[in-house]
Amino acid sequence: TKTAVFISGTGSNLLSLIKFSKKKRCPISIDLIISNYVKAKGLKYSVKFNIEKKIFSFKKKNLNNKKIFSYLQKKKIKLICLAGFMEILPSDFIKKFKGTIINIHPSLLPKYKGLNTHERAIKNEDKFSGCTVHYVSKKLDSGKIILQSKVRISSKDNATSLAKKILKKEHKLYPASISKIMD
Ligand code: GRF
Repeated sequence: TKTAVFISGTGSNLLSLIKFSKKKRCPISIDLIISNYVKAKGLKYSVKFNIEKKIFSFKKKNLNNKKIFSYLQKKKIKLICLAGFMEILPSDFIKKFKGTIINIHPSLLPKYKGLNTHERAIKNEDKFSGCTVHYVSKKLDSGKIILQSKVRISSKDNATSLAKKILKKEHKLYPASISKIMD
């Protein structure tokens, strides 16, 4: 299955998906990297692994949305993985790709939708946090959950240390989630 990964930042999840795609019998290939931010560090993986990249923002006028949609169709992309993509997808775009856009979110959804998940879990003195891979639906961080992974929050944790612990779990959870839905 030809896959596009959407990023805005470091791209550590993108790297784990690229490594996963190179495994024998892996059900996906990473054929396109989309970023809304031309300076996204994750774009270095496009060069390193010779994967096509496109800079694209949904914030611009909606003519653009049609452009990106037809480009993805032309490339025969069948799966979209959001990995730290910091823009909200327009609902008509989600509708066109119904059921084939997934996202990774650094909390145990449905808790802590949106941003600053680690700070919020620590502030609430939660014992656990974690990450979730889910289908993207119109409502932010509310689509059907595919898999989750839990980490214990220790009293010494701050947002940075917790983010690090969870990111490690994310790098395993995303490939496992794709294997699960591609079965
Ligand atoms: C991850 O924590 C992911 O859960 C969140 O944004 C971060 C992306 O990190 N959506 P990276 O760009 O994959 O390193």
